[in-house]
Amino acid sequence: MNKPDLCIAKDRKKVDINYINLDLDIKPVFKGKKYFLRTYGCQMNVHDSEEIKYYLESLGYSSVENLENADIVVLNTCAIRENAKEKIFGYLGRCKHLKKIKPNLIICLCGCLMQQPSEVEEIINNHQYIDIVIGTHNLFELPKRIVDTYHQKQQIEVFSNSDKVFENVKYYRNSKISAWINIIYGCDKFCTYCIVPFTRGRERSRKLEEILKEVQDLKDQGYLEITLLGQNVNAYGNDLNLGCDFATLLEEVAKIGIPRIRFVTSHPWNFTDKMIDVIAKYDNIMPYIHLPIQSGSDEILKRMNRKYTIAEYKNLFNTIKEKIPNVSITTDIIVGFPNETDEDFQKTIDIVNYCKFDGAFTFIFSPRVGTAAALMEDKISHDEKELRLHKLNQIVNKYSLENNQKYLNKLVDVLIIGPSDKDNEKMCGYTDTMKLVNVIGAKDLIGKIIKVKITDAKSFSLDGKVI
Ligand code: SAH
Ligand code: SF4
Ligand code: F3S
Repeated sequence: MNKPDLCIAKDRKKVDINYINLDLDIKPVFKGKKYFLRTYGCQMNVHDSEEIKYYLESLGYSSVENLENADIVVLNTCAIRENAKEKIFGYLGRCKHLKKIKPNLIICLCGCLMQQPSEVEEIINNHQYIDIVIGTHNLFELPKRIVDTYHQKQQIEVFSNSDKVFENVKYYRNSKISAWINIIYGCDKFCTYCIVPFTRGRERSRKLEEILKEVQDLKDQGYLEITLLGQNVNAYGNDLNLGCDFATLLEEVAKIGIPRIRFVTSHPWNFTDKMIDVIAKYDNIMPYIHLPIQSGSDEILKRMNRKYTIAEYKNLFNTIKEKIPNVSITTDIIVGFPNETDEDFQKTIDIVNYCKFDGAFTFIFSPRVGTAAALMEDKISHDEKELRLHKLNQIVNKYSLENNQKYLNKLVDVLIIGPSDKDNEKMCGYTDTMKLVNVIGAKDLIGKIIKVKITDAKSFSLDGKVI
């Protein structure tokens, strides 16, 4: 048994990173059996679930949509917000009940919530029916753990930190058009509200040549879009000390010639002029940047440990807008950080009015055990925080709509990814600027970049006609 420990998780002493070439031999011993997989949290988890799917499919399992029909349930969890945790424990109630009827059902929890010591203790003490708990640093062990459930009772295998980068990881990708590529694991920023540096470990960059090999391979398979992935993509290379930074990587990736290249998430603090120049220079690097601001108040930013001021953010924002034609910029904002005053909140409204973001993910601060902000005094009531969120969302949505309206009657290139969620008669896809577009059309449009004329604009999507 290995249980997580927050002190070890927090450790950022310099260590040598070990590069490990994964070469797993997985036998299809569960042929005919079914898996039910649910994913919570960010793109990192969505991509990890593609690794989980590879393991499950290689073991012989096939996917089912109904929990009751499953032989194995895998929940890939997130630790950022309380409601994600509540959903997991909701599912566990159903799993516990199901296991009474199907004693051979395997229940496995993985992902960021499992890096939290309190959650793991709770599972050991009160949820004995859970078979496997595995952390973010040893997902590759999943196939072995599943096979072992028949000899071992509850297996708890969570490591607190990692000095490893796995290469040659295999994925069962969700899409044949658009693919994720991890370029850097972990986060060293320690924003005071955030649990990610504890759940994902120290910053560890993959080697440039390995990333380029993966990009080339995806291009050869016919992928039209890749998204470079990391909690801070633009911290890429800092730990390698090889003189290769994110801008260099981006340029090398662009030269391979995949039609659409994206990246998430970039931290304003690591955003260099060189990056802006590379994005502006290459047509296949999409003019879309997610640039989390978190707050409009310098005082709050300081207490969040965000390492930039509003003046610096504005400066960066303006340079990006100036140098990258037609760029769209989205952001993340937290309201109700401990003791955020009315004036602080007003400054957040002011910066949103200044930047007029294309979109924003907005959150109420949620204290996470182990983080510095969870220990800060907070006199602001939850009702007040809800009111602030509501007010902020109204303004954010107004600008989303206004930005979308600028597309009316324009011709745009849309990469069609599949049928629209809301209307099966329609297909949907994204512009280079990451605007969701719905068009009337048949399935043969999927996987093509087509010209569309925009006919209607809403806050969260555009409607268009295929030209
Ligand atoms: N690495 C990325 C994303 C981190 S998580 C980045 O730095 O931008 C995604 C978003 O969740 C954050 O940008 C932040 O806005 C929000 N978030 C993280 N921790 C939170 C917390 N404790 N309470 C509320 N929102 C939080
Ligand atoms: Fe969390 Fe900050 Fe790291 Fe983003 S940069 S993952 S918000 S600690
Ligand atoms: Fe959640 Fe972990 Fe991502 S905490 S947001 S799944 S990095």
